[in-house]
Amino acid sequence: MIRLDAVGKVFAGRDGSRVTALEEVSLDVAPGEFVAIVGASGCGKSTLLRLVAGLVPVTTGRVSVAGKMVDEPSAETAMVFQAPTLLPWADVLRNVTFPLRLMGRAGGDTEARARALLATAGLAGFETKLPRELSGGMQQRVAICRALLQQPRVLLMDEPFGALDALTREEMSLELLRIWQETGAAVLFVTHSISEAVLLADRVVVMSPRPGRIADIVEIALPRPRGFEQEGEPAFHAAAQRIRATIYNRAVPHAA
Ligand SMILES: Nc1ncnc2c1ncn2[C@@H]1O[C@H](COP(=O)(O)OP(=O)(O)OP(=O)(O)O)[C@@H](O)[C@H]1O
Ligand SMILES: [Mg+2]
Repeated sequence: MIRLDAVGKVFAGRDGSRVTALEEVSLDVAPGEFVAIVGASGCGKSTLLRLVAGLVPVTTGRVSVAGKMVDEPSAETAMVFQAPTLLPWADVLRNVTFPLRLMGRAGGDTEARARALLATAGLAGFETKLPRELSGGMQQRVAICRALLQQPRVLLMDEPFGALDALTREEMSLELLRIWQETGAAVLFVTHSISEAVLLADRVVVMSPRPGRIADIVEIALPRPRGFEQEGEPAFHAAAQRIRATIYNRAVPHAA
């Protein structure tokens, strides 16, 4: 569903300097697969998502979604940004339904589905509030609902739970898994939390510091549906250890 083929990205700074954000990144994500991306700040995770979303062009290599070269944003793809990006003048319900209305894809059931998603995200009763009347975490939950409502074949999530408190974060991550399993979207999910990556993903991509390259890809063989009780299992622990070892550049423990 998503194919990155030897992708490189170089940014030119305003002072003429060049930053190589990504180098030789190759990755295939299958339909319905959940792939998490972890790595140090500045290693190119957001850049990778933006390339797949068609928001910035690659410098070298190719990106395709569903077999089509990506050169602009597509209706197949929805993105949740690192910081919530809501329309300040539109209420919660209109923010969530905005992309579908913009694309002319809103149907008779759109509003009902939006209300149901908002309820799932703990936002029932806030449908007519403006973004500025919500907390940062609530705004981010609206942005997540907006992406899910589109039922995209490709869902790109850039630290979507970063602004949430720990409890809401845990609740939302299991809720995301439930909704994802219903929609069957291919997911690229950036997080700084190793345990969140292992809990959610089929595979965890570990990136090296700038220039970002893929340092390791760890298969997470835990059965689904996932739950927090699995955090106590040896397979969970081994995966997290291996990811940590790669990030901190230590020898990979024998068990991995
Ligand atoms: N529009 C841009 N212009 C110039 N440089 C950029 C631009 N966007 C990103 N970069 C540079 O590319 C590198 C990767 O940035 P990116 O935002 O992808 O990192 P990240 O892994 O998402 O970091 P974080 O975990 O802090 O969000 C950084 O060095 C950054 O300065
Ligand atoms: Mg980022």
